Amino acid sequence: MLKVGIVGFGFMGQTHYKCWKALEGAQVTAICDVNPNIEEDTKRAVGNIGDTDQAVDFSSLQLFTDLEQMLNTAELDAVSITLPTCLHADCSIKALEAGVNVFCEKPMALNVQDCERMIAEAKRSGKIMQIGHCVRFWPEYAKAKEIIDSGEYGRVIAAMFQRLGSAPTWSIDNWFLDEERSGGMALDLHIHDTDFVQYLFGIPNAVSSFAAKDAKGGLIHIVTQYLYDDDKVITAEGGWAMTPTFGFEMSFNIVMEKATLVYDLTRDPMFKLCPAEGQVITPEVKKGDGWLLEIEHFAKAIRGEKVEEITTLEQSRDSVKIVAAEKESARKMEKVAIK
Ligand SMILES: NC(=O)c1ccc[n+]([C@@H]2O[C@H](COP(=O)([O-])OP(=O)(O)OC[C@H]3O[C@@H](n4cnc5c(N)ncnc54)[C@H](O)[C@@H]3O)[C@@H](O)[C@H]2O)c1
Repeated sequence: MLKVGIVGFGFMGQTHYKCWKALEGAQVTAICDVNPNIEEDTKRAVGNIGDTDQAVDFSSLQLFTDLEQMLNTAELDAVSITLPTCLHADCSIKALEAGVNVFCEKPMALNVQDCERMIAEAKRSGKIMQIGHCVRFWPEYAKAKEIIDSGEYGRVIAAMFQRLGSAPTWSIDNWFLDEERSGGMALDLHIHDTDFVQYLFGIPNAVSSFAAKDAKGGLIHIVTQYLYDDDKVITAEGGWAMTPTFGFEMSFNIVMEKATLVYDLTRDPMFKLCPAEGQVITPEVKKGDGWLLEIEHFAKAIRGEKVEEITTLEQSRDSVKIVAAEKESARKMEKVAIK
C-alpha cells in the first residue's frame, strides 16, 4: 500500500485526493496545509473542470500545518505537491531530500532555474518526480497525439488550441492573481497548451505572441504562434478575461491532410474525427480524466511497473522556458527564439 501525503489542500489538493482514492493500492494518510481551518474550508474549493464535492474523510487523515513535520513523522511513500506555484520548487526538493517520491502540479516552477534545482535533486535522490501536465494524459488529447503519430491521415497542416475562462478566484488569498506567486495567466493556464504543443511537435525554434493586459500590466489573454522549420501553422490561445458566465472552454482543431480532429469540452459530441472520405466519428478514448490517468501513471512508476514515457522533467522545464519566451515576445511585440 502506497502511503500518500497531500501538500496544499485547495482545489487541486482535493482533486488529487479523489484520484488517489480511486486507485487501488494507494491511500492518502496525511494532509499538510498552512490553513488551520482546512477541514471547514474544504467545502469552498471549486475549479475549472468538475468540482471537488466528494466528501473527504478527515477522520482517517493525519493533519499537519508544517511540511517538514509531516515528512519526518508520517512515513510517506509519495506526496502530491498541490501548492501555490511559488512553493513548488522548495517543497518538492524538501520531499525528495526526505526520500519521498513527488508528484508536483504544473507549472513545474516559476522559472527555469528553479526547475533545474528540482531536476538536480530528483537525480541525486533517485526518487521519482512527475509534473502534473495532465493534458498529455487527457483522453482526447492523448488520442489526438496517437492519431497524429500514426501518420494515417498525413502530416499536420495547422493546429489551434484554446483554453479560455474567467480569472481563478477560488484561492483563499487570491494568489493566482499575484504574478510573483503564480506566474500569471500564461504560466498558470496557457502552459497546458504550450506543453501539449511541445509534446506533439517538439520545442519550437521561436514564438511570436500577442497579449492583452490588465490595468496592472499582467497578461490576461495571449495568442502564440509556434514556429518550426516547416510551414505548419501552430497556435495556442489562452485567457482568463472571459466573463464568469462564459464558463470554461478547452478545445482544439487539428488539420491534417486527410482528416480534421476537433475537440471542444463545451460541445456534444466533444470529440470528432472528420475524415476526407467517410463518416465523421468520435474515436474511442480511455476512461477517466487526465488527472486520474497521470496519477495512476505516477503510482505505477513508483511501484517499478513498466510505463510509457509520457512526460519528462526536462520537458516540463522546457515548457516553463517556452512560456517565458512567449511572455517576452508579447512584451517586446517581436518574435523570440527559444535558446
Ligand atoms: N492541473 C490542473 O489542471 C490545475 C488546475 C488548477 C490548479 N493547478 C495548479 O495546482 C496548484 C495549486 O492550485 P489550487 O487551485 O489547488 O490552489 P488553491 O489556492 O485552491 O490551493 C492551495 C492550497 O495550498 C495551501 N498552502 C499555501 N501555502 C502553503 C504552505 N506553505 N504549506 C502548506 N499549504 C499551503 C493553501 O492554504 C491552499 O489550501 C497550482 O500550481 C496551480 O497552477 C493545476
